[in-house]
Amino acid sequence: MPILQTDNLMMTYRVGKVDVHALRGVNLNVEKGEFVSIMGHSGSGKSTLLHILGGLLKPTGGKVIVDGEDLAAVSDAQRTDIRRRKIGFVFQRFNLFPTLTAEGNLKLAEHVHGTSGNAELRREVLRLLKLENKMKHKPLELSGGEQQRVAIARAVINRPAIILADEPTGNLDSENSEIVLQMLVQLNRDIGQTIVMITHNPEAAEIANRKVLMRDGQIVSN
Ligand SMILES: Nc1ncnc2c1ncn2[C@@H]1O[C@H](COP(=O)(O)OP(=O)(O)O)[C@@H](O)[C@H]1O
Ligand SMILES: [Mg+2]
Repeated sequence: MPILQTDNLMMTYRVGKVDVHALRGVNLNVEKGEFVSIMGHSGSGKSTLLHILGGLLKPTGGKVIVDGEDLAAVSDAQRTDIRRRKIGFVFQRFNLFPTLTAEGNLKLAEHVHGTSGNAELRREVLRLLKLENKMKHKPLELSGGEQQRVAIARAVINRPAIILADEPTGNLDSENSEIVLQMLVQLNRDIGQTIVMITHNPEAAEIANRKVLMRDGQIVSN
């Protein structure tokens, strides 16, 4: 069974008196352990799809099934719970807490997840992301690439089954983009995490096992 599955997914935003049809029947299956990239012009519905896959947003129609649970059918509280247990998000803006060190940001994520943290897993993640020596630094004392690696560490520290990344290299130069992408590849390969990544960068899209192209709220090639 796919770990992520949508069936005729619809999302219509109401803006004043106007309906914006952001998703018009999206059918997507992602198997466990896949690394899928999503490309498409700005406004084609990529972020909306990712937010629905991650339970941040409730669709206006269709089904979204995450690891066997139908997100469209459950309460807001249940959806939040599923998200915390199964999903890690990485955004274009790193969204780290500026007053906390890298370590503090990771501990906060563990706390929100309701775990006291698994020291062995944490060491493995920090080693993979080459962050062992950066744990006492605050975000402003880190480069953009390092900040994004901390954000990725935060997303994977609780070992969610699925990583959803929305333009994770969008704010990085090419050197740091390459480092971050290689680390996502490693996490996918070594920890077996399923990854869905939105990107504008054709080279970034190439590292995925599969490329999905969106246009006007639909998947046009898969
Ligand atoms: N919160 C929102 N309220 C109203 N319209 C929105 C909202 N978010 C996105 N949209 C609209 O939905 C469409 C798809 O947006 P989005 O999913 O962000 O696309 P992409 O990530 O591919 O750029 C766009 O027309 C956008 O303006
Ligand atoms: Mg977007």
